[in-house]
Amino acid sequence: MTKKIFSGVQPTGNLHLGNYLGAIKNFVELNNDKENECIFCVVDLHAITVKQNPKELRNNIRETVATFVASGINPQKSIIFNQSKVSAHSEAAWILSCVARMGWLNRMTQFKEKAGKDKEKASIGLYSYPVLMAADILLYDAEVVPVGKDQLQHIEITRDVAARFNHQMGDTFVLPQAKIQENEQYIPGTDGQKMSKSRNNTINIFLPQKKLRKQIMGIQTDSTPLEDPKNPENCNVFALYKLLAPASSIQALREKYLAGGMGYGHAKTKLYEKADWSKSYAY
Ligand code: AMP
Ligand code: TRP
Repeated sequence: MTKKIFSGVQPTGNLHLGNYLGAIKNFVELNNDKENECIFCVVDLHAITVKQNPKELRNNIRETVATFVASGINPQKSIIFNQSKVSAHSEAAWILSCVARMGWLNRMTQFKEKAGKDKEKASIGLYSYPVLMAADILLYDAEVVPVGKDQLQHIEITRDVAARFNHQMGDTFVLPQAKIQENEQYIPGTDGQKMSKSRNNTINIFLPQKKLRKQIMGIQTDSTPLEDPKNPENCNVFALYKLLAPASSIQALREKYLAGGMGYGHAKTKLYEKADWSKSYAY
């Protein structure tokens, strides 16, 4: 049965492995399923909830589309478009903002994180961001929304908005479901915390080899040397390797950790080989 899929990515530049493994990889799989009708949106109206440089924003919109296509999303099969070019998104957001409740928005952790300590100075757009996201999804009757784990709260609010609207006005919107990546974990960054630009712990997906190597060599490791037998499950390098490598290589590296005699430098080189986009077209 045909399934309608919708997702969005902000054109904030320098997409990283968290974006790829947490979201875009899922987009590609959904795009490859003949049954699905997929729409992937570059959400520039969401990006402007924080200050942007117009020239950079324009470039980042193109870069995001290029990343979609380079990742394997087929533009002949899926719709890729820019949010601000369809004014219905802003219009629907206003109508839905009259349905959404302040109490729901007050609970949003992304707002709390992004607004930081001085909430008074945050834009109203940053606060009502989830309502625009609800508009994006509900406008297309999307049933499945592939996103990273950090967006689950926003999908929940989308369902709340849709349910409340349907209750007041009669059956109008489809209640969407989130689809998150397989292992349901945040993709860890170079410090082992959730990978995100604001934490400055990213490994970017399109980097010249030298810069990529530098990011990977910068992964924090603990003070127990890898030369001693070590449980690979406690290592930041291995955590990322596991996400990129095929099962057979994962097992081989796991055994090397457990046998001892291998340095962190060696493990990082192994990871680098898997993360080098120019060598392995898709992970
Ligand atoms: P953004 O750049 O914030 O628009 O994020 C684009 C997509 O990447 C969203 O679906 C996020 O949930 C996902 N994403 C970003 N960082 C991570 C991470 N560290 N782990 C999993 N998913 C992520
Ligand atoms: N809020 C999402 C993020 O930061 C981006 C987004 C906007 C989105 N509209 C969407 C994701 C609709 C899925 C569906 O990653």
